[in-house]
Amino acid sequence: MERIEKINALREKLDSVRKADKKIALVPTMGNLHEGHLSLVKQAQSLADYVVVSIFVNPTQFVAGEDFDNYPRTLDADLEYLKRLNVDLVFIPDMGEVYPDDVQLTTEVIVPELDSIYCGEYRPGHFKGVATVVCKLFNIVQPDIAVFGEKDYQQLLVIRSLVKNLNLPINIYGAVTLRETDGLAMSSRNVYLNEAERQKAPFLYKAIMEVAESLKRGESNYENLEKNAISSLKEAGFNPEYFSICDSKTLKLPINQGLVILAAAWLGKARLIDNVAVQSYD
Ligand code: PAJ
Repeated sequence: MERIEKINALREKLDSVRKADKKIALVPTMGNLHEGHLSLVKQAQSLADYVVVSIFVNPTQFVAGEDFDNYPRTLDADLEYLKRLNVDLVFIPDMGEVYPDDVQLTTEVIVPELDSIYCGEYRPGHFKGVATVVCKLFNIVQPDIAVFGEKDYQQLLVIRSLVKNLNLPINIYGAVTLRETDGLAMSSRNVYLNEAERQKAPFLYKAIMEVAESLKRGESNYENLEKNAISSLKEAGFNPEYFSICDSKTLKLPINQGLVILAAAWLGKARLIDNVAVQSYD
């Protein structure tokens, strides 16, 4: 596994990979890798000849008061995992490589509408930071394909939208959410849960699944289902931000073909997000 920190060295390497007619996949991450990230890497390996994993904790997607400084950084363990998976190249740029000018003065990528609802409403500016850094990584690596988790459903839609609207020649693949055995979606931020909270945490997924079952049975009063789910989350000790049944492409109503249930809730110091697609387009 090659480890590269500089854009010039990366470009030189990838030029030779491209000349060998190899299809390149990119899996962007912020490190602190878990099985969920590794499943993305495996999917990328099944889709391309050469897999680049980037590790960069991107400051611009953390909004004021969030955990940028304390975000778990576990580079040695991450590299060990990636080596074991036979990843071709890990790209670990520093701040100056990704943001050559002052971070505050960088050119920004905005995905309208999608960036200001749900997580975008509660974390204003978050998706602008995500779209900007992902666009930078796309320009740096110029992959043929890139893989993102459905765990961050709204993020996946933001990225699909930016690729379409900026006419980028990159195929985006979504990967299913990997869960702990009790249903909790794997996440780097689960380390913020204390033991008692960790026991409670799978209830978010359970609440979503219960609504999914009701919908499958033909229940159609979405507002009621959402209200009840929010009440039961509160009763269980969560502080919910949103719980919504919406169209799986627009994240709005009406629902045309696909339907997704999206939820975000705080449990202690951890902000948990999860979702289940009840019917999807693809
Ligand atoms: P990060 O949270 O490190 O996640 C990297 C990728 O792993 C994302 O595509 C995310 O959706 C996926 N992922 C996380 N948990 C998962 C799980 N349980 N199952 C499957 N996939 C999972 O998302 C980011 O980083 C950043 O916003 C990034 C896209 C790298 C831009 O900075």
